[in-house]
Amino acid sequence: MFLPQLLARAEKGEKLTVLTCYDASFARVLVDNGIDVLLVGDSLGMTVQGHATTLPVTLEQMTYHTEAVARGAAGKAFIVADLPFGAYQRDPQQAFDASARLMAAGANMVKLEGGAVMVETVAFLTRRGIPVCGHLGLMPQSVNATGYRAQAREASAAEQLFQDASDLEAAGATLLVLESIPAVLAEEVTQHLAIPTIGIGAGAQCNGQVLVLQDLLGLTEKPPRFAKDFMEGAWNIGSAIRNYVASVKSGEFPGPEHSF
Ligand code: KIV
Repeated sequence: MFLPQLLARAEKGEKLTVLTCYDASFARVLVDNGIDVLLVGDSLGMTVQGHATTLPVTLEQMTYHTEAVARGAAGKAFIVADLPFGAYQRDPQQAFDASARLMAAGANMVKLEGGAVMVETVAFLTRRGIPVCGHLGLMPQSVNATGYRAQAREASAAEQLFQDASDLEAAGATLLVLESIPAVLAEEVTQHLAIPTIGIGAGAQCNGQVLVLQDLLGLTEKPPRFAKDFMEGAWNIGSAIRNYVASVKSGEFPGPEHSF
């Protein structure tokens, strides 16, 4: 699937369903059960590799997992791959070289974390045919600076996030992940932008939702507040994923208990 098809779904007012995915078997199951976007997230550093953060994940590892997911999805899903920590922050050329590896591996879009500091890079990539998804709010690659806690709760930080979102869109980003921010702020950003927002711990008013697959499957030891175990009451993995898709499309998930 290519970007225009994905954006057409959002333009029709359909909520986009996104899940992280790191291998071919799950890629096939997720596609078969109605997930729109597979995110090869650098969260694999925690879920697959057992690290405490996403920081040790390398570009080689992201390339390997993106190839596996692309084989499993067999052209039937839109694939977003995370640029890992240290592989894109130096300058736009470094980001282009890393993105080219992920796109050649089968990604349809790359995701990077950061606001104003990433604007030049986003413009550089998008002008060269690489679709970019921004990521604001809680940015796990900055955990050493912020900790794992909700972001943009004070007025000045909320204003900064709003400005960053506008700047990323103006630079050419075509999707924006909003993580762990007040639902009311996510709603304002979503109304202001023309590009779809994808929330995780950002309330129900975003244009789509993303969860870490292991959180949805109830495999996470200490799940974050915004996660929901969709295996509860489901009779297999496929039905848990279909329940997630139905709950997101209907606006039932996330509820206030999953939001800030
Ligand atoms: O890597 C990841 O799983 C992510 C999601 C939390 C959005 O970036």
